[in-house]
Amino acid sequence: MDRIVPEEILMKIGVLGSGIVAQTLAVGFLKHGYETMIGTRDAAKLAEWSSASPKAQIGSLSETAAFGDAVVLAVKGTAAAEALRAAGSANLAGKLVMDSCNPIADAPPINGVLPFFTTHSESLMEQLQNEFSAAYLVKVFNSVGASRMVNPEFNAGRPTMFICGNDDAAKSMVAQILEKFGWETADMGKVEAARAIEPLCMLWCIPGFLRNEWTHAFKLLRE
Ligand SMILES: NC(=O)c1ccc[n+]([C@@H]2O[C@H](COP(=O)([O-])OP(=O)(O)OC[C@H]3O[C@@H](n4cnc5c(N)ncnc54)[C@H](OP(=O)(O)O)[C@@H]3O)[C@@H](O)[C@H]2O)c1
Repeated sequence: MDRIVPEEILMKIGVLGSGIVAQTLAVGFLKHGYETMIGTRDAAKLAEWSSASPKAQIGSLSETAAFGDAVVLAVKGTAAAEALRAAGSANLAGKLVMDSCNPIADAPPINGVLPFFTTHSESLMEQLQNEFSAAYLVKVFNSVGASRMVNPEFNAGRPTMFICGNDDAAKSMVAQILEKFGWETADMGKVEAARAIEPLCMLWCIPGFLRNEWTHAFKLLRE
């Protein structure tokens, strides 16, 4: 199997999804010079967006996965596995897959706390990594709102993006992307760490649901 493309070559990025996260990250990758395709089941959904972002290419999920040297997964958590199946495991094999998805269940928050369809013993990313074992999944971009994902500005400096994944080379590529996107990276280890990183989304959303505060980000303080 071909090894993932080294970061020195500016990668082509395939973004799976058409929602606010997919759109925001696609614009971010374009801004930083990456050739970018965005993938959806229904290209008509992106007609308005693409006239404002003419450099972005639009494709099906499988065309987008095949296009990317690296892939972003930015779809509804309940549809993440289905979206990767539609993308095609052969199109993902050997590639970095940046997984922004959160396993939010189809139910309302309780006192501001989102319900998940996963357990504390198995995260969504573990399920995806088990099924798509030839892809290199890295959890990233799941614990901040879309409006602060790309080069956010905070008085306290760069916020921290918690990442995890089994492949060190894939995580190193993500750290280089995060550096360009204005984040410091905190590598929490292997895929099981997604059991802790995915619930950061719950924590991040609580001030939003309780007090309509949606513009914060996490920062890890070190000595
Ligand atoms: N919103 C945020 O600020 C934020 C922040 C951090 C992380 N996240 C996470 O990032 C992911 C994307 O969030 P979002 O708010 O942009 O969008 P979303 O509303 O959670 O999801 C919309 C996307 O899901 C896709 N989708 C739905 N059902 C599908 C299926 N059966 N097969 C394939 N694709 C399907 C849609 O694709 P089609 O175009 O094909 O319909 C669409 O692109 C979610 O997992 C979310 O939890 C969101």
